[in-house]
Amino acid sequence: MKKIKTAILISGRGSNMENLIKACKDDNFPAEIALVISNKKDAKGLEIAALNGIATKFIDHKNFSSRAEFDAQMSLEIEKHNCQIVCLAGFMRLLSSEFVEKWYNRAINIHPSYLPHFKGADAVGDAIKAGANFSGCTVHLLRSEMDEGPILVQAKVAIEPSDTKESLAAKILKKEHEIYPQALKKLCEMVVL
Ligand code: GRF
Repeated sequence: MKKIKTAILISGRGSNMENLIKACKDDNFPAEIALVISNKKDAKGLEIAALNGIATKFIDHKNFSSRAEFDAQMSLEIEKHNCQIVCLAGFMRLLSSEFVEKWYNRAINIHPSYLPHFKGADAVGDAIKAGANFSGCTVHLLRSEMDEGPILVQAKVAIEPSDTKESLAAKILKKEHEIYPQALKKLCEMVVL
């Protein structure tokens, strides 16, 4: 099976990244992770990727005078590694419209809520504060508006009265690790090379 080369963008811990790397090790999984890019030098995910023998690249967004220039540098690296798909996994920067256009229907993001509920940077905290009885996680195609775009896979997580932000975050993360590989597989099936 010819696997589709995929790049992952991270900013930190990289547990979703690690989980995607693991899923891709299956010969029958349609993607292979060929590159991990981080905008943070000390992102733990960079170490994990390197330990898995995957090419890594730190690109400091502070070295670029505009978002579009930083994004263009990322695109250059992604193309250099012949990647056709981009997965955002805890990448903590908004992407320019140029980047979104370039990777239109080839880039996906994971968000820790059952979208369209609780968009934004503190989705887990917001679900707790709202007293919601469920939240979840969503993988969607990347679009210019934050946490918007056609949904590929999503899952609900029940919120118990005893849940804290931390306990809910842990439950959601577990679900994220289930759905992100499913969504990447789905995208691979959609992408016409
Ligand atoms: C996840 O909760 C993801 O939904 C959000 O950022 C977190 C990243 O966690 N976008 P990790 O770096 O994959 O462990």
